Amino acid sequence: MGSFDRLVRKVVPSAAHLSYNPLFKIVGDAISGIPNLFFSEYRELPPNHMRVRVGVNNKLLFNQPYHLWLGMQYWVRWLTKGYVRPDSDVVEIGCGCGRIAHPLRNDWFTGTYLGIDIDKELLQWCSEHFPKDKFAFLASTHKSATYTSDTSSEAIKFFFGEMASKDFIYSTSLYTHLLVPELVNYTSESFKVLREDGVMCMTFFCLDSIERGGRWNFEHKIGDAYVENLKYPEAAVAYTKEFMEGVAREAGFTNIDFLLNPVQSWLVCRK
Ligand SMILES: C[S@@+](CC[C@H](N)C(=O)[O-])C[C@H]1O[C@@H](n2cnc3c(N)ncnc32)[C@H](O)[C@@H]1O
Repeated sequence: MGSFDRLVRKVVPSAAHLSYNPLFKIVGDAISGIPNLFFSEYRELPPNHMRVRVGVNNKLLFNQPYHLWLGMQYWVRWLTKGYVRPDSDVVEIGCGCGRIAHPLRNDWFTGTYLGIDIDKELLQWCSEHFPKDKFAFLASTHKSATYTSDTSSEAIKFFFGEMASKDFIYSTSLYTHLLVPELVNYTSESFKVLREDGVMCMTFFCLDSIERGGRWNFEHKIGDAYVENLKYPEAAVAYTKEFMEGVAREAGFTNIDFLLNPVQSWLVCRK
């Protein structure tokens, strides 16, 4: 972590917060936009403050390479493992500004993609920059103290129109920001919309494997959720493996697998 990044980390509870600051938006977008003059692939990316909002591995400026690389490595992994095919109907929950969806713009992907989020600014950017033939975006009704949501409803709704029409549902760095009602809601809705043999793949902070004492402590509890910050509980949330397995079972999954890691772990369920 650079010393500028470390200093900023000390004064803001999460990088997502910083991304809403008007001064950071203007100055950061302008400075970080300089390399776009030289690299055409950077010009397709969202502005710096949006990239910071979805996570930049503490690199607050000039993070285009990280943004581009992250999505591709996930798709290589998922395709290799057989979770998804090039013609799959895919849903991403917590799609942000389309970082993970970015590689699906290429011709190899012939399926469909639905991205869901609570952040209207990011959803609007995605709707304006992804081709409409393959990509659609939807606003969730959830709220979050960490991520802006201008929906007035507190209710957690089932917002997938069609039933059992999807092959692959995933989220990256979303369950790490969800309290129990939202997490349970998305897991059970995911089971409902998946076709037989479809796969759900979610990253989460697993209390059984995460390294505590450094960046993460998770010393506060809200029900079954372990949080870093009680004022902004969704800034970082962890769960036990046992709890996550229970949620997946309750949703209807019987084929449940985990890949535990010191940072984000994976919950992988096949219907
Ligand atoms: C850390 S970012 C990750 C974004 C994206 N998955 C990626 O890896 O680029 C978390 C995203 O989840 C969204 N989010 C937070 N709470 C949500 C909720 N309850 N429902 C849907 N999206 C949510 C935020 O707006 C943000 O875009």
